[in-house]
Amino acid sequence: MIIAPSLLAADFGRLAKETGRVARSGADWLHLDVMDGHFVPNISFGPAVVRAIRPLTSMFFDVHLMCSKPEILLEPFARAGADQIGIHVELGEAVTPLLWKIKSLGRKVSLVVNPPTAISMVQPYLEQIDSLLIMTVNPGFGGQSFIYEMLPKIQQACAWRREKNLGYTISVDGGIDFKTAADCARVGADAFISGTALFGKRNLGAAVRKMRQVVTANSLSPVVLAS
Ligand code: DX5
Ligand code: ZN
Repeated sequence: MIIAPSLLAADFGRLAKETGRVARSGADWLHLDVMDGHFVPNISFGPAVVRAIRPLTSMFFDVHLMCSKPEILLEPFARAGADQIGIHVELGEAVTPLLWKIKSLGRKVSLVVNPPTAISMVQPYLEQIDSLLIMTVNPGFGGQSFIYEMLPKIQQACAWRREKNLGYTISVDGGIDFKTAADCARVGADAFISGTALFGKRNLGAAVRKMRQVVTANSLSPVVLAS
């Protein structure tokens, strides 16, 4: 199970300190939300911020591009230290060349699907991706409520993975707290991106541990405990 705090919910006045807090928390990935003010109605940060925090931790950096023209950002983010780069399936015919470009840069590939988009749209790309990110809020802002209608998409992604014998991670992003993480784990999600619910806690390490415990206990594939 992967726990991925989203830096969007951090204190932007103290990004270095907040990165250190995540690094010490025992989380697996640091999720980095990049918004361009066009694909989504908000602006967050660019490659310079990723470059600035990269030396502070060896954590896996999961960059989520909510951008209309990701092609101009792939190299800068790869150079800045992204380990995985995610682009949206809503970009249509641009998706295939973008996925190949990310691979050619030696980075892992994530494909993201928005709430109003049918899950069938990602089907042609499943063989080419490392992670499928199912948005559980409409992207653009942290702190929104989880959209329960997305649970069948997770189920479908899980069924395809089994049927086709593929290995992509199923990630969920938006409104993920201890309860909704458990709901997603029960239908097959295995990476949990969470901003407000984790950063809002005084003790981030304890919150990460609790989320890991909750999703493991509710996982589709039960953990066999050593006797
Ligand atoms: C939403 C972003 C999310 C966001 C999640 O546009 O993609 O990663 O940070 O934040 P919470 O957990 O607060 O919904
Ligand atoms: Zn995100």
